[in-house]
Amino acid sequence: MNFLFEKGGEAIAVLVFKGAEKASEANDLYSFVKERKLFEGKAGEVYSSPGNGKDVILLGLGEEYKLDYQVLRKAFYSLGKEAGRLKLESIGVHIPKFEDKCYGKTLKAVSEGLIQSQYSFDKYKSKSDQRVYLKEIYLQVKDDNLEKAKNVVSETQILMEGVFLTRDLVNEPAINMYPEVLAERAVDSLAPLGVKVDVFGKEKIEELGMKAFLAVSKGSEKEPQFIVMKYQGDPDSNEKLALVGKGLTYDSGGYCLKPADSMAAMHTDMAGAASVIGAMYSIAKAGLKKNVTAIVAACENMISGGAYKTGDIIGSMSGKTIEIGNTDAEGRVTLADALWYAATVENADRIVDLATLTGACVVALGSVNTGAITNNDKFMEEIKVASTLAGEPVWELPHDEEYMELFKSDFADLKNTGGRWAGAITAGLFLREFVNDKPWVHLDIAGTSHLSNPMGYLPKGATGVPVKTLFYLVKDM
Ligand code: BES
Ligand code: MN
Ligand code: ZN
Repeated sequence: MNFLFEKGGEAIAVLVFKGAEKASEANDLYSFVKERKLFEGKAGEVYSSPGNGKDVILLGLGEEYKLDYQVLRKAFYSLGKEAGRLKLESIGVHIPKFEDKCYGKTLKAVSEGLIQSQYSFDKYKSKSDQRVYLKEIYLQVKDDNLEKAKNVVSETQILMEGVFLTRDLVNEPAINMYPEVLAERAVDSLAPLGVKVDVFGKEKIEELGMKAFLAVSKGSEKEPQFIVMKYQGDPDSNEKLALVGKGLTYDSGGYCLKPADSMAAMHTDMAGAASVIGAMYSIAKAGLKKNVTAIVAACENMISGGAYKTGDIIGSMSGKTIEIGNTDAEGRVTLADALWYAATVENADRIVDLATLTGACVVALGSVNTGAITNNDKFMEEIKVASTLAGEPVWELPHDEEYMELFKSDFADLKNTGGRWAGAITAGLFLREFVNDKPWVHLDIAGTSHLSNPMGYLPKGATGVPVKTLFYLVKDM
């Protein structure tokens, strides 16, 4: 999708607030459809009047006082979809300065919404729809801001490329997306951008003493891969953020086998890993002046004669021992070593982990909010600011010390399950044991990284959440 900053396009879109008296560039049409109650201007509502080279699409923005960037994203997503339905290759739209709104953020939301409308995962359809893509958007922006407008839109394009990369990785079925492939995709997409990608196979993982990660991987025929991606945007600084993503390319549950319905989408259990790869892509391509290292411990949780079992007591790179209460609580076991590596070998100053960690988080927050746990309120605050900017809501869960009781083990240092109660919290607090007291935020994206139904501008399947949050966190930190 190309953005051009001039007048043009096969059709023009005209923005209308709900109940508005007039619609600047399409007054006659607006009066007509308003009179007949064909169009009210509700947020995201569209009314098209095709007319051979001068189509007009009325685009509703809802009540003026309710306008925010999320409304804008959704509205322009609808516009993009409508343009596709009309088989338009180009549209023009004038973007006014809305009262109390930052013009840059307005342009970000507008361009993001339009780009969001273009995503599809159809590589496995033998007859993919003969879609005409919306190729050109003519944005008429405030003259005094042309350079800034161009920069803002191009940054949004780069950001959305990262989001789409994440979606593509997550949507890929496990038959074609196993640890070695994930590592290869990380190399292919990040190395050209100057990110140094190291991939460790089983031998090196053993050498590093990652006994917990190895235990989870044992049941699979696929070799585990430990992937380290380093981006040095600020070589003069020693400051470094680590992004650690859960990378289960398939989670059958192991011997604590999942029921069929719960297992159905478990090829997406590497969404955390895909998110850090997508975020690194955008961070590096945008050339953000920060140092970020992304880390993924990729493996499958499967069943075989060699698989780990309940009751097993395993070691970890940190030296702590873990009693396996449930082989399906595997994500935290792999992350134990990935986090310890981030905190010690990488010696990161701060750590964020992203994980499709618990069904309990989905029960608590559904697919709207990502659940969060932290050991550092100030860092949490920064994540919240970034998530608001991104339009990817995050809800912090409590971390009272009493919860720690739930995953005490009688025979090992920790148990990998805390029972049914407070499952998202105990999982998060288990991870905290492996960050070596570094400032850390855990994001449980089990509900938000993948959807069983489309929601707003987010498609069914992989959403790419929380790539935008990570990008803005790094940009503004
Ligand atoms: N990958 C799952 C969590 C999950 C559930 C992700 C639903 C996406 C949607 C995780 O490995 C898991 O199985 N967690 C268990 C933990 C339990 C055994 C303590 C769960 O949530 O049931
Ligand atoms: Mn599991
Ligand atoms: Zn899992």
